[in-house]
Amino acid sequence: MGLSLSINGDRLTSSADPITPLVDVLREEFHLTGAKPVCREGFCGACMVLVDGSPALSCLTPLALVENCEVRTAEGLSANSALSPVQAALEEADAVQCGMCFPGMVVSLTHVLETNPGATRDDIRAALTGNICRCTGYERIIEAALTVIQT
Ligand code: FES
Ligand code: FES
Repeated sequence: MGLSLSINGDRLTSSADPITPLVDVLREEFHLTGAKPVCREGFCGACMVLVDGSPALSCLTPLALVENCEVRTAEGLSANSALSPVQAALEEADAVQCGMCFPGMVVSLTHVLETNPGATRDDIRAALTGNICRCTGYERIIEAALTVIQT
């Protein structure tokens, strides 16, 4: 017995308690450590993942809520070990400092750019309102995202 879900395209079964936060299932059971349990209260966005294509805070999402759902984590946004366009743009722009916020940032940026290919600077800023970064001031992050749109 267990609870079935898809993570980054792989159909998996979790044996965790259904009330376990998804971030803990990802990290402890499936060893996907991209999503970060920083605040665990829904404020920082470091634990952001996509559930059925929509951003979700995995610290506030119990495992039971994602049964039979498609979960994408930061690890699942790249293919064949190559950086995704968003990841590559952030690296190229030297936008990363401590990096704690970045898996969540990448998830939010990927979502806005996939769902709104003509996203404006304001759209990108709005998409990042749930992602707190203590290091960067956001400008290089936004500039990097804009370069993805222009390519
Ligand atoms: S750890 Fe989930 S919002 Fe901060
Ligand atoms: S790079 Fe350090 S919190 Fe964002």
